[in-house]
Amino acid sequence: MLKKTSKIVLSAALLVGFVGVAQAEMTREEYAVKFRRSSFTAMTWYYGAMSRMAKGEMPYDKALFARNAEYVAFLSKLPKDGFIPGSDGGDTKAKPEVWSKADKFKEANDRMESEAAKLAELAKGGNLDALKEQMGKLQKTCKGCHEDFKKKAD
Ligand code: HEC
Repeated sequence: MLKKTSKIVLSAALLVGFVGVAQAEMTREEYAVKFRRSSFTAMTWYYGAMSRMAKGEMPYDKALFARNAEYVAFLSKLPKDGFIPGSDGGDTKAKPEVWSKADKFKEANDRMESEAAKLAELAKGGNLDALKEQMGKLQKTCKGCHEDFKKKAD
């Protein structure tokens, strides 16, 4: 029993140590930028396969589509946590409006999360036409927010 406890304490200490090292080279704000950009990248990765299935570039695989839609629904909840105060500078394309129009930014996040959740729900049914329509709705939330809150590629 004692052995087990000390093992848990040790791994917790290692984990804290590891995170500490990973963040040591960056400020918390820089890490937040990296985190939100990475979560958008991960979300887009899973969205990509669904997109290829929708376009017929890849055979429709109901289980894979449904799994990816679940991942996208989950991942869509992550980026907002990375827009911490003070993380408006550095290696970012976020516009200052993310912070100055925080309510509007939150609404845009909510829209994405709710359309992504609907897509995951629909994906269980396996009607590709319905899925394509819902993907269109989800994409609108990406586009809308990028127009208002993301600087154009340079
Ligand atoms: C609530 C606003 C919002 C929504 C909704 C949104 N984005 Fe973004 N997205 C941003 C902002 C802001 C950035 C810039 C982040 C940065 O550079 O710090 C960004 C960046 C990105 C990036 C670039 C990541 C990188 O490498 O830097 C990708 C890819 C992306 N978004 C994909 C999507 C997709 C796909 C959707 C819809 C499923 C989506 N986004 C929805 C605001 C949003």
